[in-house]
Amino acid sequence: MSKISEIERAPLGEERQGEVMIREGLGQGKKLYLESYGCQMNFSDSEIVASILQKDGYETTNNLEEADLVLLNTCSIREKAEQTVRNRLDQFNTLKAKNPELKIGVLGCMAERVREKFFDEEKLVDLVVGPDAYRDLPNLLEELDGGRKAVNVILSKEETYHDIEPVRLGGNGITSFVSITRGCDNMCTFCVVPFTRGRERSRDPQTIVEEVIQLWNDGYQEVTLLGQNVDSYLWYGGGLKKDFAKASTMAQATAVHFADLLHMVAQAVPDMRIRFSTSNPQDMKDEVLHAIADHPNICKYIHLPVQSGSSRILKEMNRGHNREEYFALIDRIRRIIPGCGLSQDMIAGFPGETEEDHQDTLSLMEYVKYDFGYMFAYSERPNTFAARKMDDNVPLEVKKRRLNEIIALQQKHSAERNAAYVGQTFEVLVEGRSKRSEDDLFGRTTQNTVVVFPREDYRAGEWVNVTVERSTAATLLGKAVGYARPPRR
Ligand code: SAH
Ligand code: F3S
Repeated sequence: MSKISEIERAPLGEERQGEVMIREGLGQGKKLYLESYGCQMNFSDSEIVASILQKDGYETTNNLEEADLVLLNTCSIREKAEQTVRNRLDQFNTLKAKNPELKIGVLGCMAERVREKFFDEEKLVDLVVGPDAYRDLPNLLEELDGGRKAVNVILSKEETYHDIEPVRLGGNGITSFVSITRGCDNMCTFCVVPFTRGRERSRDPQTIVEEVIQLWNDGYQEVTLLGQNVDSYLWYGGGLKKDFAKASTMAQATAVHFADLLHMVAQAVPDMRIRFSTSNPQDMKDEVLHAIADHPNICKYIHLPVQSGSSRILKEMNRGHNREEYFALIDRIRRIIPGCGLSQDMIAGFPGETEEDHQDTLSLMEYVKYDFGYMFAYSERPNTFAARKMDDNVPLEVKKRRLNEIIALQQKHSAERNAAYVGQTFEVLVEGRSKRSEDDLFGRTTQNTVVVFPREDYRAGEWVNVTVERSTAATLLGKAVGYARPPRR
């Protein structure tokens, strides 16, 4: 049975159905092919889009050939991400040449950035819909049927899709995502996200807790709370983060901060694993660290992007903290959450980055010794502060060389950290068969490290204790020594 039909059977509150259903499904009998690029938030948004269109009558398909509507949920974070989307759109247009009825739409950050130019210059798409306008999709598709251009890239101050029950697409039925904030107010000078996703707003905590409980009841074992900057989650009855200072004294006193939300979710589903992404060093409070330490079901893992190890570059990036403050935060994490897994995002070759700045990045990495990381060469994004005011003056070969040095150092640290886990036994939530071998399963430790072990009689969705016997930079290899929890069979 497909995932969609399982979800269809899941009870939906009357109220929810009413709010989502804009009008009876004009998409009846039509098939939607939906492809997502970029961050986890985009994959999560696609599940909201599928839900909205399912109520309009659309059925999702994995077969491009049978689709009536193709939607691409796009990413603008680096130039390469946009190029990938353009190439994919070319492929879809080849298909459209054979089947002129096929409709092609662009969603997400690139829709917001490129906007009408998609029609005027490139003639690649029929539909352009920004990240805050997905509720309008059924109406826009109707416009399209009437032969008109369909575009909505209006960014919202309120939209959090809080009432929409996502259709879980292509997942494993074990781990899932729930969005808690949208947009970002941080304005890092290199980053396009504040322009494509708008102002930061938080979702009603009650609806977050309800969605997490629903996931648990549907058999999910792990949830990741998503936001561009989860630490600045702030609910005071609705409204933008930036307007909090203007809220009533009462609203301020009863506001829900990220640490409060973590307590609420952890208590609501005490047997479910809880992760969150992404943390921002300038906004991460000790209360959050204590919440992680207090609840055994909150994973001991923090993705803590730093971008650079140089205080001078951090300032140019508008990151809101310097190198020393970051070290102090790392020290507090290590003290409050012993054994916590840590990962980074790093950018090589930001405008004006000198060899000395680069050495600062390498030495910061030596201090932290991250478990793993995501590393990128700086890519200038139109309209960002860096693009407008700074010269992208680090030559490409230098960017690449620095990036390679950063990657090599991370590989070394990952290998060292994983080697230190050999001999230890970890509780592993099994996510599925290993890609390399049908006879092996894979899962993750609380620190988010991947563990592979022989399948025996164990199955996906089970909690197994695994003793680590060997390691590589990417994986721990071990042997199951019994259930960590009795299997739910
Ligand atoms: N706070 C966000 C960050 C989104 S972007 C989150 O939820 O992860 C993810 C990463 O892409 C950033 O941390 C940064 O390392 C990288 N990045 C963003 N803009 C970039 C640019 N212009 N060039 C290169 N890398 C970039
Ligand atoms: Fe981008 Fe900085 Fe926000 S990296 S998403 S502006 S925290």
